[in-house]
Formats: sequence, C-alpha cells, structure tokens
Amino acid sequence: MRLNSSNSLLSVPSSSLQIPEFPVGTNEGVNESIEFSLVIPTYNEAANVCKIVATLTDLLDEFIPGDYELIVVDDDSPDRTWEIAQSLMPEYPQLKVMRRQNERGLSSAVIRGWQVASGRVLGVIDGDLQHPPHILLKMLRAITEGAEVIDLAVASRHASGGGVSSWSVLRRFLSRGAQVLGLVILPEVLGRVSDPMSGYFLVRRSAIAGVTLNPIGYKILLEVIGRGKIRKITEVGYVFQEREEGESKVTWKQYIEYLHHLILLRSSTGRLAQLSHHFNIPIGRFIRFALVGLSGVFVDMTLLYLLSDPTTLNFPLTRSKILASEIAIYNNFLWNDIWTFGDISRQQKQWHQRIKRLLKFNIICLAGLVINVFVLNILFNKFGINRYVANLIAIGIATIWNFWINLKLSWRVTEVK
Ligand code: GDD
Ligand code: MN
Repeated sequence: MRLNSSNSLLSVPSSSLQIPEFPVGTNEGVNESIEFSLVIPTYNEAANVCKIVATLTDLLDEFIPGDYELIVVDDDSPDRTWEIAQSLMPEYPQLKVMRRQNERGLSSAVIRGWQVASGRVLGVIDGDLQHPPHILLKMLRAITEGAEVIDLAVASRHASGGGVSSWSVLRRFLSRGAQVLGLVILPEVLGRVSDPMSGYFLVRRSAIAGVTLNPIGYKILLEVIGRGKIRKITEVGYVFQEREEGESKVTWKQYIEYLHHLILLRSSTGRLAQLSHHFNIPIGRFIRFALVGLSGVFVDMTLLYLLSDPTTLNFPLTRSKILASEIAIYNNFLWNDIWTFGDISRQQKQWHQRIKRLLKFNIICLAGLVINVFVLNILFNKFGINRYVANLIAIGIATIWNFWINLKLSWRVTEVK
C-alpha cells in the first residue's frame, strides 16, 4: 500500500491513559481544535467498516462539515480491518486510522483514540452497526446546542424509544443482572443513567481531561461517569440492532472483568475512598481479602460435608473440620497471594519467600480462629447477644485481625533504601 500524508496511520500514544485538556500539538486548542471527534473501536470488523464510515460521514458532513473527525482504532485485527479503513482515507478526508499492535482491549482503544483527538466533544460508537448512526446527531445537538451545559449524552436502550431487537430471555436477564449488581456496588455511578452498559455516548472533553482512566473491562462509560467531572447528563433512546456481519467479542471473561472493574471503581472513588485515603486504609485490598475469605468459607463447608457427612466419608467431625479449615487456608492464601496482594508478591517471587508468606498466613489465621471463638464466647455468654449475631461480629473482628496483621507481616513491602 502506498503511504503518504493522506493515508498514513496515526501513531499510538504510549503515555498514561489520560485525555489532554487541549488537543495535542495545539496552542491551548484555540484555533486548531474541532467540534467533534468520534472513535470507532474495531476488532475483525472488515465487513462493516466501509459502511459505518460512509454512513457517519454522510450524517456529519450535513451537520458540521469539516468540523469533525472519525478515528478508527483497530487492534491489529487478523481480518485486516485497519488496512481496509486505511484504504478509505483518500475518499474520506475526515477519517483517521490507528493500528495498535502492542495493546489490546476495547476500553483502552477508546482512550487511545481520544488521546489523539482534536475535538471539544469526544464520542464512541461500535463499529458493527449495532448502534444506529442517526441517533448521533440528537446526542451531538444536546451537548453543543443545549441551553444548559450538558457534559455527557448517552444512547440508551432503556430510555424512551429504546430497546433491543430480538434478544433471548437469557441475554436480557444477564444484562439486567449485571446492571443490578452494579447498582448495588456502585449506585452513585450506575444510578445516574438508565443504560450504564452503553458503549455509545458523547462526552465533553473538559469533563474527562486530566484524570487517568483505567483500561479494565468493556464498559468505558463507567470510567467516564466514575472518574470524570460529569455534571449534567442527557439520554437518547435507541434500539440495539442485530449484528449482520462479523461476531461479538463478548465472552464470560467480560463478566469477570466487569465485576473487577466495579470493585476497582468502588475502591477508588466516592466517599468511602476519601475516608480510606484520609486514614490510609487500603479499602480495595480489604474488599478483595473479604471476598477471598468468602470463597474460603465455601471451600471449608464443601470439604466438611465431603469428609464428615454420614452419606460420604463419615470421618470424625473434629478431624474433618481441621482438615477442611487447613485446606480453606491454602485456598485463601493462594488467591490472596495472586490477587489481593498480587502487586506485592510479584516482587517477591522466590519459592522460599512464598513458603515464608504461607507459613505466616497460616499462623495468623489460626490465631484469628482463636480470636473468633473467644469473641463469640464473650458476646454470647457475657452479653447475652444472639449467637448468630455474635458470630457475625466475631467473624468481622477476626477478618479485620487477619487482614491487618497479614498486611503488616505476610505481604509486607520491604523498604529498600
Ligand atoms: N479496538 C478494539 N479492541 N475494538 C474492540 C475490541 C478490542 O479488544 N473488542 C471489541 N471491539 C469493538 C468491536 O469490533 C465492536 O465494534 C465494538 O467494539 C463492540 O464490540 P461487540 O463485541 O460487538 O460488543 P456487543 O455487541 O456485545 O455490545 C455491547 O457492548 C458494547 C461496548 O460496550 C453492548 O453493551 C453495547 O451497547 C456496547 O456498546
Ligand atoms: Mn456488537
């Protein structure tokens, strides 16, 4: 392919994932900025890219001729979407193309596109035509022409006029389930819009400039609302179209990432985060530790059943319980070492270091068990508190002990001078 200035690819920024306040290379953005930049993330959309570029160009040429840009950000698709997009550039002067070879993922693709954008308003739309293009103008008008300052316009399947075309009951259920889960964990973010999973929205540059966005997960809108300075939001209903070409990239992995994303946002934004920052409490770690603890309860229960139940192995109860707890402790250690304290253990990878951590963890958790029994007894016998309430409090106290002492002793960061 012939490379000249009219069809050369955009280079991929390698800086942290922050949107500059003014377009890069401009003098405070005064003259060189444009009205609108729209990022189209693609992965194997060879069959769709021509059509979406053509449709969007028709729409925007009518509305703001010359004052916009389309930025296709392709992750080196095996079907060479980037190459097809590149070949369209001479015909569509507003089109730019980025081919990423060293980075992957939907959210970071969108952020990288915005980083090189010149628009005062930044947007994103799927490249597979599932997002109807004509909705775009309604959103753009709301932001640029509205009487009041609107920072974010979201295309929503759940606002009036919105919907999904022919989703199975299971898919609707999973989608709503994810939304409810998000509402519980992060109400102040997901509660602000009717369709927090939308990947079709426009945001004012000034509302997200200067904050570092996290690339995790599929749902970049959560980052924008969670970390940006978003005052007013407007929603425009749309019907999520069926895919005609290519296929969705969503797998079960996205659900796990979504949960991780919610927890990360929870622990780094909001009032709780301010408090924990103020008092220097690692709240995110604690939440991870508590979740791992919950998995340990599950392991303990299952093993207790398998070992001691009369219908299974029928071992004596005490012996079974000791074995079950010990294995639950290994389970918890493993996940804590990989996940809760992963950043620390990755710096101390040698086997003798791991075994040392495991031994410390084991001893501290056993002490935690003693504390648990002790507190339970005091609350129940001395204060007459209901045994289950007492047990809950005792578990809480033991968890805090386990967390705090392990943080200080097992996964201690050794200061290197
Ligand atoms: N660059 C890049 N890198 N693009 C990607 C990647 C990636 O790793 N993964 C997916 N894409 C592109 C796809 O090519 C498509 O243009 C768009 O991102 C959405 O991906 P789909 O796989 O089609 O997702 P969907 O149909 O399930 O849509 C759901 O997620 C969207 C994105 O958040 C819905 O919730 C949509 O409303 C939402 O916009
Ligand atoms: Mn899609």
